[in-house]
Amino acid sequence: MNQSTQSLTGLYAEHQGKVSDKWSSYLTLYEAELAPIRQTVRSILEIGVQNGGSLEVWAKYFASAESIVGCDVNPKCAHLVYADPRISIVVGDATQPAVCQQVVALADGFDVIVEDGSHIPREVILAFLRYWPHVKPGGIFIAEDLHCDYFPSHEGGIARRDIANRFFAELVHVINLEHWASSTAISTLLREFAPADVVEQAGLAGSIASISFRNSLAILHKVSAPSDSLLGTRVIVGDEAIADAQVLALRAAGGDSLGVMRATPERDHVANSFASLFNRR
Ligand SMILES: C[S@@+](CC[C@H](N)C(=O)[O-])C[C@H]1O[C@@H](n2cnc3c(N)ncnc32)[C@H](O)[C@@H]1O
Repeated sequence: MNQSTQSLTGLYAEHQGKVSDKWSSYLTLYEAELAPIRQTVRSILEIGVQNGGSLEVWAKYFASAESIVGCDVNPKCAHLVYADPRISIVVGDATQPAVCQQVVALADGFDVIVEDGSHIPREVILAFLRYWPHVKPGGIFIAEDLHCDYFPSHEGGIARRDIANRFFAELVHVINLEHWASSTAISTLLREFAPADVVEQAGLAGSIASISFRNSLAILHKVSAPSDSLLGTRVIVGDEAIADAQVLALRAAGGDSLGVMRATPERDHVANSFASLFNRR
């Protein structure tokens, strides 16, 4: 089979050379997530590469990619050598701003970022906040091995408030930001998880299209355009309202002939505070 059409599971099954270490369920789930964008992905980053084999597999899977970047804190990773000139490695702690700068300089944003580093919740959260601004519009951020959230050996525990799964779950409120933006700052919402300046620099407002969870994975999609994150206008159609006619009165008071509600002072207020958040990004 042509390498550009072989499935991720197939590519892993036939891979030789540098070692990669992934759970089987990830390969199936990644295939579902990544197959639709496989031909358009130009850049991918993996944080935590260890023996480096995953970068070789990504290079085969994303045949059209121009930039496949790995980052690992282990100095031994400096000795990883690749025949494929599209693959590069940065050695250093990915959560450090200087290392982040080095990494992001290697591509014009990333279509896909896979976070597979220390799995210490605090570092997973920090890595997400540092690299999320560098996910391209419509791109994907995947945090792997979130079962480590539950391990004391990784500074985790099911009773802890500050684990990565809870952080990613909390981000649902960022998806719904337009409804509370004027009352609280995102950095206040997330104060248990990361310092305010780090949260502010992550540019979260209006940026998250979806968050999904699978066993040990969190998968976040970035919006393609800021308007994708908005609820939109209210559409009220039809003329018979036998259970509650108020909805027709609402349309008559504020809607156009199709029932699309015009702005009210309250909706304006929410929209304005949301717009100012975008402008601050
Ligand atoms: C689970 S292994 C990565 C496995 C690899 N992704 C694969 O698929 O085969 C985790 C790696 O993350 C690296 N790591 C841990 N903390 C890191 C950090 N803060 N920045 C970059 N790499 C880190 C470790 O050195 C280790 O090599």
